[in-house]
Amino acid sequence: MLAKSSYDLFPKILAGDLVPKILVLYYSRSGNTEKMAKAVAEGAKNAGNIEVELNYHVEVDELDKFDAIVLGAPTYHHDMPIDMKKLFEEAAEKGINLKGKVCAAFGSYGWSGEAPKFLLEIMKNKFEMQVIEPPLLAKYVPDENMLGMCRDFGKRVSETLMHQA
Ligand SMILES: Cc1cc2nc3c(=O)[nH]c(=O)nc-3n(C[C@H](O)[C@H](O)[C@H](O)COP(=O)(O)O)c2cc1C
Repeated sequence: MLAKSSYDLFPKILAGDLVPKILVLYYSRSGNTEKMAKAVAEGAKNAGNIEVELNYHVEVDELDKFDAIVLGAPTYHHDMPIDMKKLFEEAAEKGINLKGKVCAAFGSYGWSGEAPKFLLEIMKNKFEMQVIEPPLLAKYVPDENMLGMCRDFGKRVSETLMHQA
């Protein structure tokens, strides 16, 4: 059983009552953001007693069961992936409450890399999530150094979740 808002998680985690849940939701056409997503999920898992779901699809009604949502979005045609756009449009229409939950974003790009920034703007301004900025961007294929940064990024999300009051 998870808290509706992440703000009151910390005492419960200390008491061992709950395991915080992180969703790493990604889209990837040629595999670059997927590599990042796997490393982010690994880093998040290794940070402590955290449940991490790595997925490329989630139903809109499932979103509020997570305490943190980490979005992996490559940039195509200066935009975010259409599936993510649709998912959060539907979430807004249905009034899904994500307020106070932690959100972060990352993605591979070629030259402009807007997608993760656009997503964070929506998560912050529309859903009132607690956003970790800036997003993590990898130019094309993430190398070993970048994959290390992805693991650190995942760890940071877990630590944010565990240490918020
Ligand atoms: C048709 C097409 C359009 C693209 N448009 C953009 C773009 O607008 N801005 C950008 O930064 N990169 C753009 N890219 C580059 C991709 O973001 C880049 O190849 C990225 O690594 C793809 O990530 P993925 O393997 O996770 O799908 C485009 C690539 C393709 C094939």
